[in-house]
Amino acid sequence: MSTYRFLDDMADTAEQDFGQPKTFPLMPEGEAVDMGHADDGTPLFDPRILDSPEFFRNPYPYYKILRDHYPVYHDKLHNTYWVTRYDDITECYFDDEGFNTIPKGSSSGVLGNTQLELSGIEHRRRRNLYGQHLVGQSLNHRIPAIEHLADEMFDHWDTMAADGSDFVTDEDGKRLVELGMAFANEFPIRVVCEVLGFPKEAQSQFFYWYNSMMTGLGGSDTHKQGVEARQDLEDYVAGIVEQRRETPTYLYDSDGNPISKDVISKLCETKVDGDFLSTEEITSNIALVVGGGGETTRGAILNMWTLLLRHPEQFKAVVDDEENWDKAFHETLRIASPIGGQPRHNTFDVEMHGVKVPAGSLMQMVDFSANHDDRIFKDPETFDIFRDDLYSGKLLRSGYRKEGKCSHMAFGVGPHLCPGAWISHQEAVVGSKILQKRMKNPRIREDLMPKDIDGESAAPMGIVSVRALWLEYDLV
Ligand code: HEM
Repeated sequence: MSTYRFLDDMADTAEQDFGQPKTFPLMPEGEAVDMGHADDGTPLFDPRILDSPEFFRNPYPYYKILRDHYPVYHDKLHNTYWVTRYDDITECYFDDEGFNTIPKGSSSGVLGNTQLELSGIEHRRRRNLYGQHLVGQSLNHRIPAIEHLADEMFDHWDTMAADGSDFVTDEDGKRLVELGMAFANEFPIRVVCEVLGFPKEAQSQFFYWYNSMMTGLGGSDTHKQGVEARQDLEDYVAGIVEQRRETPTYLYDSDGNPISKDVISKLCETKVDGDFLSTEEITSNIALVVGGGGETTRGAILNMWTLLLRHPEQFKAVVDDEENWDKAFHETLRIASPIGGQPRHNTFDVEMHGVKVPAGSLMQMVDFSANHDDRIFKDPETFDIFRDDLYSGKLLRSGYRKEGKCSHMAFGVGPHLCPGAWISHQEAVVGSKILQKRMKNPRIREDLMPKDIDGESAAPMGIVSVRALWLEYDLV
């Protein structure tokens, strides 16, 4: 008999009528609602909690119940198997034949036919085409350009303040800034445009397309707008591709010396099995890269600043030694990743932890839960950039697990490991170093931040990235 208990084994059928909506009380952060206990004391789990406001603001005690008692939880309400332990998730991610990627609903319409939904050889072929341009030497040469972009955006705050912006205001020698609207929403899109080699004038237009595409993922009303934005983006990129097939263009370092051809010019001359890439292949990859890198990196930047400023001794550590930004970035992604997990379908019948999962089932890999698995990370709910069990070196597709250190799961692992991991790391760290140098004595304006249930303390980060981050710093 399985050591895990499932609700359908329980005698009280009234308790199992999950068709009825249920309201759950809001609990102190870190404490779960009591959903009942089995005779042997095992806590029961009501899947309706997964749709509740309580879960969205306070998910981690519920993931702990799942990890400890139902590591593969068959949720009949959502017709899903939730996989919550680090080791199980890693194993599934590595096996992309047994646990294949699946179309992600409306994202397919908006983002197009992307590699996210491919597996095996066809996936590798697509991914290798441009993944190489987002890492290593070609990206290192672009770091001064990323710094320059951050400086430019910071300089623009003076104009925003003078023009009466709602997001940058000056008073009594202090500046109040909403870091999302003034920086983090747009910076990642500008960086990706820069690295891919699009003209500077096009950056704002890309930001508009990106916003419409992302809004389009949200529902049917905005879906049409998202699809149109993607089409416009692809039309624009297709024009550039045609030009660069004729006349390739180059990237230059800060002294004006050519570094190499830009990514689009390189893609134009890339051959696969003897054929040049089609324009469609290039444009849909570019749409995915633009779509994949915005909200995610925005969340990483805002969450990292929020966590650091709420732990002043750790903020001081990054100010005193810039090298600590890398640690801060990875610890932020471990404790508060902008992406919760990924869906997979099991290709064959499998049995995990005594649970039989029929072939073709929807299995949700909960990266959030893996990152808080206390089998891997000590005191997982504590933000500590100096924790000795988190690997914060170069990201590896194979993941890292040696000498007591493990990589976090925010970028996934295995064949689908995020190809934008390195560039988002550079964006967040390089951009933050500039912000930190230029803002004197930054602090969070907690009075403007969302409040928790007591109406006083700060709202927990929950499972969404910080929506807005109000900072104040001294101008003199
Ligand atoms: C903090 C920032 C980011 C996070 C947390 C993140 C997270 C992820 C995760 C978890 C996946 C794996 C999906 C899966 O297993 O099915 C992924 C895939 C992907 N990401 Fe990111 N990402 C980030 C930034 C970026 C950036 C900046 C780019 C582009 C420049 C990007 C482009 C992509 C693409 C193209 C894929 C699909 C890869 C594949 O299916 O082979 N991401 N990302």
